[in-house]
Amino acid sequence: LDGDDRVSRAALAERFGTPLYLYDLDRVSASKRDLFEAVPDGFLVYYAVKANPHPDVLREMCGGDHSCRAEVSSTGELHAALDAGFSRSECLYTGPGKTTAEVVEAVECGVRLFSAESLSDLCRIGAVATSRHVVVDCLIRINNAAASASTGIRMTGIPSQFGIDSETLVGTMAELNAVAGTRITGMHFFPLSNAQDEQALIEEFRNTVAVAARLQRETGMPVQLLDIGGGFAAPYAASGERPVYRRLREELEDTLDAHFPGWRDGQPRIACESGRYLVADAGQLVCGVGNVKESRGRRFVILDAGINALGGLSGLGRLLPMTVELAGTRAAGVASVVGPLCTTGDLLGRAVPVPDLGSGDTVVIPHVGAYGLTASLLAFLGRPAPVEVAVRGDDLVSASRVQFTRSYQLGD
Ligand SMILES: Cc1ncc(COP(=O)(O)O)c(C=O)c1O
Repeated sequence: LDGDDRVSRAALAERFGTPLYLYDLDRVSASKRDLFEAVPDGFLVYYAVKANPHPDVLREMCGGDHSCRAEVSSTGELHAALDAGFSRSECLYTGPGKTTAEVVEAVECGVRLFSAESLSDLCRIGAVATSRHVVVDCLIRINNAAASASTGIRMTGIPSQFGIDSETLVGTMAELNAVAGTRITGMHFFPLSNAQDEQALIEEFRNTVAVAARLQRETGMPVQLLDIGGGFAAPYAASGERPVYRRLREELEDTLDAHFPGWRDGQPRIACESGRYLVADAGQLVCGVGNVKESRGRRFVILDAGINALGGLSGLGRLLPMTVELAGTRAAGVASVVGPLCTTGDLLGRAVPVPDLGSGDTVVIPHVGAYGLTASLLAFLGRPAPVEVAVRGDDLVSASRVQFTRSYQLGD
C-alpha cells in the first residue's frame, strides 16, 4: 500500500480486518491544544485514563507542548500510564473503591497524590502510606450538596459513592486531619460529565469554585491544589462537533480572582480533568456488515461489532445515539443496527438512518475514541477484540489487539 492509501479506512480494514478501531493521533493533539487554550494558563489538566488507555493515545497525552497528567483509578490504568511515560509522582489516584492491594501497588510505584472519597478511604490510604514509611498528599473529594442547574451526566448533589457530602465536611474535618500517613492538600470535585453547552459548564465551575472557597473558610483546610473537575463535552458515537470553548478561560479567571486571589501565583494550583473531550473525536470504529434482514416490517443491519466492541453502556440499558457513515452515500431508510452476539441486548441503535447496506459493506461509527473499546463487554461471547490502529497523518503508528488468555487455576 502506498502513500495516503496506507492509512485509509478501506485499506486498513482490508489489511487488518474488521471490526477495527482507528485512532488519529493528530486529532488527539488538536483537542489537547484546544483544551489547554480553553482554560487559564497554569491550569493542570488531568487526563482520565479510563476514557482510552491505548498506549499511543497515552503517549500523546503526556508528550508535546502541553502535557497532561494522568488520573487513574486502578492498578491497570496506573501501569498503562507509567508505561506510556507519565510521571509517577504527578499521577492522581482516584476512585471510591480502592482496595488495600491497589493502594500498596500505587504507593510502591511512587504515586504520592490520592483523592480520598470518604474518611474510611483516607484511613486505608494512610495505613498503607504509614506501613511504607511515607506521607502522601490527599485531596478530599467533595459531593457538593448544591449543584448548579446545568445538565449532563451528574455525579454529585445526590446520594453517591463519590466524595464526602459537603454538609458533613466541617464536622468530619478534625478526623480527616488526624489520619496518619496522609497530608490533606486540597479538594477534588467532579460534579458532572459531558455538560450540555458552554454556559452550563461555566455555571458548574463557578458553583464549584464558590463552594470550594466557602468550605475552605469553614473548615480551615489547607488548599494547595484545587481540582475543579470537568464536564468538557464531546459527541459519542454520533455525528456532531467537539465544542470549542471561547468564553470559559475568562470566566474561570474572573471566578478564581474573586474566590482564590492567590491562584495566579499557584496558591492554590488549579486543576481540571477530561477524558472524552480529549479523545472522543479521534476514534472511529470501522465495522463490517455481516447481514441485513427484514423481520415483521423492520430492517436489521447486523454488524461484526456489537456491545462486545462498543458500548458496554448500551448493554447497561443506555442506548447509543448512534450514527453510521458510509462515504458519499445518502440514508436510504432506517434500521436497527445490531451486533453479532446472541442477545437482544446487542443493540447499537434503533431506527438509525442508514444507507442501502448489504453483506460485505463497511460502515463507520464516528467519535468513539472515548469509552469505546475500554467501556465494552469485551469478554462476552468470546469473540476476539477489535484491532486497534493508531495513525498520525499518513503514518501507521501501530496496530494491535487486546488479547485474552484462558483462565488459569489459582492455588498451589
Ligand atoms: C473522577 C473523574 N474524572 C474524570 C472523568 C472523565 O470524564 P469525561 O470523560 O466526561 O471527561 C470521570 C468520568 O467518569 C471521572 O469520574
